[in-house]
Amino acid sequence: MARGTLITIEGLDGAGKSTLAEALQREMASRGVRAELLREPGGVDLAERIRALVKDPSLTVSPRAEALLYAAARAQLVAERLEPLLEEGAVVLLDRFVDSSLAYQGAGRALGVEQVRAINVFATGLLAPDRTLLLRISPDAGRARQRERALEPDRLERENEEFFEAIACAYDELAREEPGRVRVIDASQPAEQVLADALAAVQDLLV
Ligand SMILES: Nc1ncnc2c1ncn2[C@@H]1O[C@H](COP(=O)(O)OP(=O)(O)OP(=O)(O)O)[C@@H](O)[C@H]1O
Ligand SMILES: [Mg+2]
Repeated sequence: MARGTLITIEGLDGAGKSTLAEALQREMASRGVRAELLREPGGVDLAERIRALVKDPSLTVSPRAEALLYAAARAQLVAERLEPLLEEGAVVLLDRFVDSSLAYQGAGRALGVEQVRAINVFATGLLAPDRTLLLRISPDAGRARQRERALEPDRLERENEEFFEAIACAYDELAREEPGRVRVIDASQPAEQVLADALAAVQDLLV
């Protein structure tokens, strides 16, 4: 059976993931490719409720609980939406996926990338993206963009500099380990150039 295409978008807070995801969806539509746009954690009711829990600054959430909550949200998204869409042959644009947990919980929370990978194998049944666009930006630049967006920082966004430095390093390491899947894009560029680079990086999947 024809299998769809899963493209994930990764990077630090404020890198421009959601901006790129929407622009990619529009650009693909203008080329006659209909793409489903989903975000993590979320995309289905259970996962949206878990999103509210993990982001709530008034809650105490241990690192292991945090990793498991993200994995639980992901398991539901895979079962309820991703697997059926990919079975139908859809193109899916997904704003964050397993790599976010490897970087944020594995490195940022120092749980260990391999431990976090293991619970995500359990959660996703080894569903791997066909391509991952890693929007590379310095933590400072990402933070500055978020400030411009002028929303209250959520529970994770309140973390310190070392937390985001560790995440940035982990993302770079993932890109080195899997250069075929993970394509690094300079997210400090203007949005139009980020979009152009992203299109070039997924071109071969859309023909
Ligand atoms: N290439 C760009 N150049 C300048 N500003 C940008 C660029 N891309 C996005 N922005 C702006 O930066 C802010 C953050 O972008 P966006 O919300 O897309 O980031 P994000 O990676 O989805 O963040 P989060 O992880 O918090 O969801 C927004 O105000 C957006 O308009
Ligand atoms: Mg976003």
